Amino acid sequence: MSVGIDEISFYTSNYFLDLRTLAEVQQIESDKYYTGIGQEKMSMAAPDEDVVTMAANAAQQVIDRVGVDCISSLLFATETGVDQSKAAGVYVHRLLGLNSNCRVVELKQACYSATAAIQMACALVARQPEKKVLVIASDIARYDLGTSGEATQGCGAVAMLISANPRLVEIDPEVGNHTEDVMDFWRPNYRATALVDGKYSTKIYLKSLKKAWENFVDASSVAFNDFSYFCYHLPFSRMAEKAHKHLAKINQAGLTLEQIEQQVEDTLHYNRIIGNSYTASMYIGLSSLLENCKHNLAGKKVGFFSYGSGCVSEFFSGTVVSGYDKCLHTLNHKQMLESRQEVSYDEYLKLCSYPDPRDGEHHDIPASTAGRYRLAAISGHKREYVVC
Ligand code: CAA
Repeated sequence: MSVGIDEISFYTSNYFLDLRTLAEVQQIESDKYYTGIGQEKMSMAAPDEDVVTMAANAAQQVIDRVGVDCISSLLFATETGVDQSKAAGVYVHRLLGLNSNCRVVELKQACYSATAAIQMACALVARQPEKKVLVIASDIARYDLGTSGEATQGCGAVAMLISANPRLVEIDPEVGNHTEDVMDFWRPNYRATALVDGKYSTKIYLKSLKKAWENFVDASSVAFNDFSYFCYHLPFSRMAEKAHKHLAKINQAGLTLEQIEQQVEDTLHYNRIIGNSYTASMYIGLSSLLENCKHNLAGKKVGFFSYGSGCVSEFFSGTVVSGYDKCLHTLNHKQMLESRQEVSYDEYLKLCSYPDPRDGEHHDIPASTAGRYRLAAISGHKREYVVC
């Protein structure tokens, strides 16, 4: 019996800022963003969107297809949790109408925790193959204005159904891990925006890749040249390109630069125009590969490098299942991305500084998202979510 990803669907906000606009205001060349970091647009969450509403929107298409009865657990991965105690997934459980027998928990370790959730889900399914586990990763990447991280913001959520004999990607049990206590990116409880030591974070990312890969090689018989494609954590798309060149060099793979680039380029289409979505980013990259690659991926090995600052990382492998192309949500994803609305720099500033009421009074939040679920009010310190 194989275990892996049976369904995958993602969501992002209907607003985006073109990085050309940001470059213009900053009086720098837009090529720094378009080419230097490989990002074109970044999604900006609407005032009535948060990780809960984005998660429910991402999962809706999965639920429409498979129903709720088969789902025994919901594992919710996020860096942008909305409560120190209550799992954001519990709100999503209600919004999606999941069964009251379905367990819910939230997982945190920066951008890595969706991978922990996937591995835990695979273990649960291996134990009870008739059950399916819904894994949702949802994040809003926010840095202070005027910092080096500003151009690498974004938001998005991805929902994946983990099952026995999956229809999309079979996940191998062998993994390589690397954990190290470092301060490259973090967000104390009292801050809405992340703190980052940008250049250091890119170095630690590459070091972690090497270490996790070495650990993977010890555990698995799958060699570098057995892989056709690689999905990386995507803080910005140029990071994945750099990382993959680094891994190819470590392995003395004997590939041309073009061949190396081809192994990642189809994973980058969506993230280039969504931006960083922390926990969700690598799996939106997987969606991009499955939905945009012109070649038939059936039977192809895919390598995954998941990185969460602080830091925990993991390299693992999977195989695309024959018939995967019949089980995607490509049209919905493309329509959602094409119908987004560009914001001006002033509108972007407004979205960044939308009030985050903490006084316990009743605050209605004007309707603005194009999604099905929205945060309608915060009242008595309680978040009130509604279906539109
Ligand atoms: N045309 C083409 N390229 C240009 C250019 C131009 N006009 N101007 C600059 N560039 C190139 C630079 O040469 C550079 O390329 P190299 O990396 O190949 O040298 C690239 O654009 C970026 O330029 P800078 O290094 O000057 O950019 P910066 O200092 O302003 O910031 C950054 C880059 C540090 C990554 C910053 O975006 C940042 O802090 N981001 C947030 C942190 C982050 O994403 N870290 C990634 C690893 S941590 C992680 O993965 C977890 C997570 O999700 C946060």
